Parts: sequence; C-alpha cells; structure tokens
Amino acid sequence: MTTILVTGGAGFIGSHTVIELVKAGYEPIIFDNFSNAKPAVLARIHKICGKRVPCCFGDIRVRQQLETVFKENKIDGVIHFAGLKAVGESVKKPLEYYDNNVNGSRVLLEVMRDYKCSNFIFSSSATVYGEPDKVPLTEDSPVKRANSPYGQTKIDIEYMAEELQRAIPEFSVTLLRYFNPVGAHESGLIGEDPRGIPNNLMPYLTQVAVGKLPILNIFGNDYPTKDGTCIRDYIHVVDLALGHVAAIKHCLNQGGVHIYNLGTGIGYSVLDMVNAFSKAIGRELPHQFAPRRAGDVVQCYADPSKAARELNWKAVRTLEDMTRDSYNWQKNNPNGYDD
Ligand code: NAD
Ligand code: UFG
Repeated sequence: MTTILVTGGAGFIGSHTVIELVKAGYEPIIFDNFSNAKPAVLARIHKICGKRVPCCFGDIRVRQQLETVFKENKIDGVIHFAGLKAVGESVKKPLEYYDNNVNGSRVLLEVMRDYKCSNFIFSSSATVYGEPDKVPLTEDSPVKRANSPYGQTKIDIEYMAEELQRAIPEFSVTLLRYFNPVGAHESGLIGEDPRGIPNNLMPYLTQVAVGKLPILNIFGNDYPTKDGTCIRDYIHVVDLALGHVAAIKHCLNQGGVHIYNLGTGIGYSVLDMVNAFSKAIGRELPHQFAPRRAGDVVQCYADPSKAARELNWKAVRTLEDMTRDSYNWQKNNPNGYDD
C-alpha cells in the first residue's frame, strides 16, 4: 500500500488527481484548508470512486497540523497542490502569496524531511518560462524572472525543493510544469468552481454559455499569431491527473530532480477555443474583442516528449472532450458545488 498525501486535494486539479490515484491502487489522503474548495467535493469524490478518501482539514503553514498527519500515517509521498493561484490577485497581495505558497511549501518540506518522507511532487507551471524565446517549450527552456508574484512563488518553490534535494540525495523531487488545465471529470460531478467572476478563459466561456455572464471579452486581437489572439496549450484535467499517477510510478524513491512539462503539445488560439465552444453548444458564443490584458504572453505550448519518453504518459483527450466536459460540469452545476 502506497500512501500519498495530497495537499490541496479538494481543489480543481487535486480532486481529479485523487480519483485517478484511487483508480491506480494508491491510498490518497487529502490535506486542505478549504480556502478555495468546498467540502461538498468530498462526497462527489466518494460517489465517483466508490471509496471514502480520508481528508484532514489543515493549513500547510501550520507545522503542527501537518505533523499530526505524518504521525498518524506512514506517508510515502506528497503531491503538493495547495497554494493560491490567481495571478492578478497576487499582484495586489504579494506577501499573502509568498506566505501561503513559499512559506507553506517550506513548512511542508521541513516536516517531510523530519519524518523521512522523501518523495515530493510539485504543481509548477509553464509560467516559470515567462515570455518564451521559442516554442514549443522543452524542460531545458530558460526559466525567467516571473511577471507576477504568483509566478515567482512557483520559481522559488522549485529552487527550494531542488536545494533540499542537493542536501539530501535520496530525496526525490518531481516538478510538473502544467500548461493550461481545463475540462472536468466526465461524470459531470466535479470540476472547476472559481469564486466570483472567473479570470481564466475556460470557466469564463462556460459561464457565458449558460447565460451567467453576457459576453466573453477576448483580450487582444493584434498579437503576432495566425488570428491575432494568444495561443495556449490547453490540457484536459483528467489527462493532467493521470500525469501525476505516471510521475509517481516513475519517480517514487528514485532520488534526484525530475522535471516534466505536462501539456498536449498543441497550441490553440483564443478564437479556436471560442469556435470549439460554439460548436459544442450548437450556437455562436457571444464574444467581442477587448484590449490586451497586462502580463499575457503571446504564445505558450509544450514539447511534452520528455514525459512521453520517460513517464510513458501522453495527453489523449481532445479539444472537443475538453469543451464538452467543461460545459457538462457547468450545465449540471450552474453554481458549482453550491448546487
Ligand atoms: P485550486 O485553488 O482549485 O486548488 C488549490 C487547493 O489548495 C484548494 O483546495 C485550496 O483550498 C487549497 N489550499 C490553498 N492554500 C492552502 C493552505 N495554505 N493549506 C492547505 N490547503 C490550501 O487550484 P488548482 O487549479 O487545482 O491548482 C492546484 C495547483 O496547481 C496550484 O498550486 C496551482 O498554482 C497549480 N497550477 C494551476 C494551474 C491552473 O491553471 N489551474 C496552472 C499551473 C499550476
Ligand atoms: N482570455 C481572454 N478572455 C478572458 C480570459 C482569458 O481573452 O476572459 C485569454 C487570455 O488573454 C489568454 C488566454 O485566454 O490569452 C488564456 O488565459 P487564461 O487566464 O485562461 O490562462 P493563462 O495562460 O493566462 O494562465 C495560465 C494559468 C496560470 C499560469 C499561466 C502561465 O491559469 O496559473 O497560465 O502562463 F500562471
């Protein structure tokens, strides 16, 4: 039995990963302070996988709360999702982001070290590459100073974990750099439940589609791309979850630092996404062009071949799957987990 502590396991990517861990025969334990999640997700996870996944209410910054879990369970590895993730909010509240993300990760790593748990899998982001010099991005593409405190916390946590690994050679650090996670579980029971007006494209699209928001503003149509809108590598959250399972299988107890891009390798423009969504709902999704959004990179997509080669993992879900599942989740749960 391999027990995996999943910090932030009640959140969007964490909840999908917990399900895939159970399916693959692992024993996940969720650790979450529910600052951006709803307890209702736990019953939904139970319904999908037919198993009650243990959940500890706690904050990664509070050593004692983490220690309780490590004392009561033999934790073989940690998948670390917990953190704040809103780029715009991080500009207004930088200290909160450094405290929650960097300090929280430091406390977590300290407890792992003290309890001799030597497998750390971290939710990093393609944001560490900044504005790419060239695409697709490989794991060797340069890491650049981030243009938001959020992005900088990802870089800082990557470095901190790598430094700890240098000090403890048997420590295994896996840095998973996600591209743009979208979609939802095909059951329509779990999905992304942003607070207030969404910042990210897919939840905004789905809310326009169900009439919660009137129109999508496309930020910029004068970028040097095929149709003037920005290009991203959208990846289905279930594929991303399976990437974590593959990473555990490959990296557990291997020691060293392992870095993987988790993306599809395909870049879609914002207009591609609008068109795919219009097709999914059978009518044109209301949209208009608006000024560029500060801080957006022109294009960002992965070369995912290292993960394919070493982890034997590949994203297989299509854009159609992503739009269908996102829409299905939104339609079934117009108010997210409050329904
Ligand atoms: P999310 O907000 O849905 O999940 C994060 C979870 O962590 C939430 O359930 C929240 O309650 C919990 N949490 C926050 N601070 C905590 C703390 N101090 N102690 C305990 N729990 C805490 O976000 P997500 O989209 O699932 O993202 C998960 C991780 O992946 C984050 O680290 C995020 O930065 C990273 N990531 C996300 C994206 C994306 O676009 N969604 C892209 C790249 C990387
Ligand atoms: N967009 C719109 N209208 C919207 C929302 C987004 O046109 O209402 C556009 C953006 O300008 C961008 C694209 O859709 O061109 C994707 O934007 P998202 O906000 O969905 O995603 P980002 O690529 O900006 O952000 C993602 C993650 C962050 C991470 C960042 C790194 O959500 O966590 O990638 O590049 F930091």
